[in-house]
Amino acid sequence: MTRGTQHFIGKAHGKIILIGEHAVVYGEPAIALPFKAAPVEVSIEKDTGPVSVSSDYYTGPLEDAPGKLENIKVLLFEIGKELGQTINNLFIKITSHIPPERGMGSSAAVSTALIRALFQYFNVQLNEEQLLAYIDISEKIVHGNPSGIDARVTSSDAPIFYKKNQFFEPFPINISGYLIVADTGKKGQTSHAVADVATLFNDDYEPTAKLIQNIGERAIRAKLAIIHNDLAALGTLLSQTHELLKELTVSDESLDHLVDTALKAGALGAKLTGGGRGGCMIALAQSERYAMVIKNKLIEQGAINTWVHALEGE
Ligand code: MEV
Repeated sequence: MTRGTQHFIGKAHGKIILIGEHAVVYGEPAIALPFKAAPVEVSIEKDTGPVSVSSDYYTGPLEDAPGKLENIKVLLFEIGKELGQTINNLFIKITSHIPPERGMGSSAAVSTALIRALFQYFNVQLNEEQLLAYIDISEKIVHGNPSGIDARVTSSDAPIFYKKNQFFEPFPINISGYLIVADTGKKGQTSHAVADVATLFNDDYEPTAKLIQNIGERAIRAKLAIIHNDLAALGTLLSQTHELLKELTVSDESLDHLVDTALKAGALGAKLTGGGRGGCMIALAQSERYAMVIKNKLIEQGAINTWVHALEGE
């Protein structure tokens, strides 16, 4: 089998939701950051025969790929249909540094990079609106009812302040602190968590709606705290939001344990990030020195991976 020499590359990166996850599905605002320490690259080469894929998760013919790659099959089909192209004779290589199923936007980032690479391969200009519409198709398969925030931020170079179907603003996070991201090592369960919140919202409307509204209010106050470089206020809002997310039933023991660990180690605030029920948490530190102390404690207490991210200049 001879592959082409030309590679068509699409790139994207992971994301961190600073505040507002789950409530954002119900129209409340949220703040998210591109997480460039976790990049994804999709490379497409001309090949012969049916489409084949190489990734950490699966390597082989796409048609035999497990159900988890259903979103990729559907994306290829939809894009082929729109561009009037038969999707065949392709070798797709996915290189991802985003830990999958950890609330870091892995599925949206892989879709973004794949769509970008495919449009390059077919030499067709891709606009923002088309990109988001395709990511949305893929995210609906993976997550059921996505707010669109992952699609926005994994394809964006800047942090964003986002409200579903209403607005999206690039939002510079020029604040002097450090964010520690820690992976519990447990796969997150975004689609289940989102579905369970929807059930709560239907079955127990008033208290659930109030929790969601309280998270949204904290996202707005977090925006103000960032604008005023008030790290202490931001930390408090993050921790309060973790408590609200717990009440929404989307945390778990592994996340609560790392959140408590970070707070005891001197974090100004800490919370789960993303879909929850496993996955990752974040903690806010006032200086790099504190960030390192917190990071080491998190590792000692079971985090399988950590990243320290300076917020200044975001
Ligand atoms: C997942 O990264 C964030 C959630 O709010 C779901 C969504 O917004 O689509 C849990």
